[in-house]
Amino acid sequence: MEFAKRTLRFGEEIFAALNERKLALESEGRKIWNMSIGTPDFETPQAIREALCEAAMDPESWKYSLRDLPELTQAVSNYYARRYGVSISPDAIMSCYGTQEGCGHLALALCDEGDSVLLPDPCYPVFKAGVLMAGAEPAWYPLNKEHGFLPYLPDIPEETARKAKMMIVSLPSNPVGSVALPDTYRDLVAFAKAYDILIVHDNAYSDIIFTGTPGGSFLATPGAMDIGVEFFSLSKSFNVTGARISFLLGRKDVVDAVRLLRSQIDFGMFIPVQKAAIAALNGPLDNVKAQCELYRQRRDALCGGARAIGWPIPDNMGSMFVWAPVPAHYERSMDFCMDLLDRAGVLCTPGSSFGPHGEGYVRFALVLPPDQIHEALASIQASGILVP
Ligand SMILES: Cc1ncc(COP(=O)(O)O)c(C=O)c1O
Repeated sequence: MEFAKRTLRFGEEIFAALNERKLALESEGRKIWNMSIGTPDFETPQAIREALCEAAMDPESWKYSLRDLPELTQAVSNYYARRYGVSISPDAIMSCYGTQEGCGHLALALCDEGDSVLLPDPCYPVFKAGVLMAGAEPAWYPLNKEHGFLPYLPDIPEETARKAKMMIVSLPSNPVGSVALPDTYRDLVAFAKAYDILIVHDNAYSDIIFTGTPGGSFLATPGAMDIGVEFFSLSKSFNVTGARISFLLGRKDVVDAVRLLRSQIDFGMFIPVQKAAIAALNGPLDNVKAQCELYRQRRDALCGGARAIGWPIPDNMGSMFVWAPVPAHYERSMDFCMDLLDRAGVLCTPGSSFGPHGEGYVRFALVLPPDQIHEALASIQASGILVP
C-alpha cells in the first residue's frame, strides 16, 4: 500500500540508536546518567493529584466532556492576570492535549499547502512536524551564538518575511536555553505588524528562568494580542507532563479557527484532568518558585562543574535545558553522544536532531539532582573523552 505522501516528510527517528545502546549498557549492569529527555523528576503537587482523584470518583466525569468547563477557562484567565498581568477573556482560551498536540494541529487550522512558516533553527521538533503535516513549508531563522541564541530579525530576508504567514517563537528556549531580552517581544510585535505575520509563542518555561527577572507572557507586550497567540503548558511548572494539559490563547479569531478544527476530531478533555488543571491554576505558586531554585542549582552543578573539568559549557539563562558545545575534536554531535554514552555512561541529545544549526552542540536536560550531576561529570572526566 502507498501511504500518504505526508508521512514521507518526516525524518528517521534518530534517538533509536542511542536508546538501543543505552538499554544494552544497562543490561550489562552499567550505571547510566540519563539527561536526554525533558521529563521532570519532581513530584506533582498533592492538591493537583487529589483534585483528579476526587473527580474520577464521580461517574458523571466519565462522560464526553464536549467542552472546556467554564471554571477552567476562567481559571486560566485569572492565572494570566495574577501571574503575567495579562487580561484575557475566557472565550479566547482553549485547552489542548499538551502543547505538543496543539502545536501539531495548529498549522492544519491556519495554513494551506505551500504556505510559509518561520521556524527557529534549532527548534523543538513538533514546530516543524506540525508545519509539514499541514503541507506548509518551514522557513528557518537561526538561533546562533552570535546573537545570544535569540531570533535576530534584521537577518530575515525581506522576501522571506513577506511570504511568511506565521512565525513560531519559544522563549525560554528548548533546546538552546536563551531568554527574551526586554526588547525581544516588542521587536517581534513590530515585525509581525509590518509583514502581517501571526506570531505563535510557545511559553513552556516561564517559571524556569535564572536571570533574576520573573518570566512573563508574550501576550503582555503591547499590541501582541492583535498579532499573536500563545501556548501555555502546565507540564513543566506543575510536573504534570503525563496528564497532557496546555492551552492556546490570544487572538480570538485564531483560537476560534483552531477550536473549530479540534471540534471535528475531539470530544473534549477528560473532566478529572480539567479539574486537576483548575486546582493547579488556582493553587499557591510557592512550589513553582522553589522548583526554579532547584533547577538553578542543577544548572550550576552542570555548567559550573563542566567548566571546572575543562568543558566550557556556558550557563543557560532559562528552560530546563543546557546547550553544550561539542569538544572540537568531534565533528558530529551524534558521534560525540554515542561516545559519551559508551565511555562515560552519560546520555544526552545530539544538537543536530533539533535542526542544522544544532550541529556542534548537545543538549542536556536538568532532570537529575546535583549529586548525580557531579557523579556524571566525574565519570566524564575519568573517561578522558574531553581530551583530544
Ligand atoms: C518548547 C516546548 N514546548 C512544548 C513542550 C511540550 O509541552 P506539553 O507537555 O504541553 O506538550 C515542550 C516539552 O519538552 C517544550 O520543550
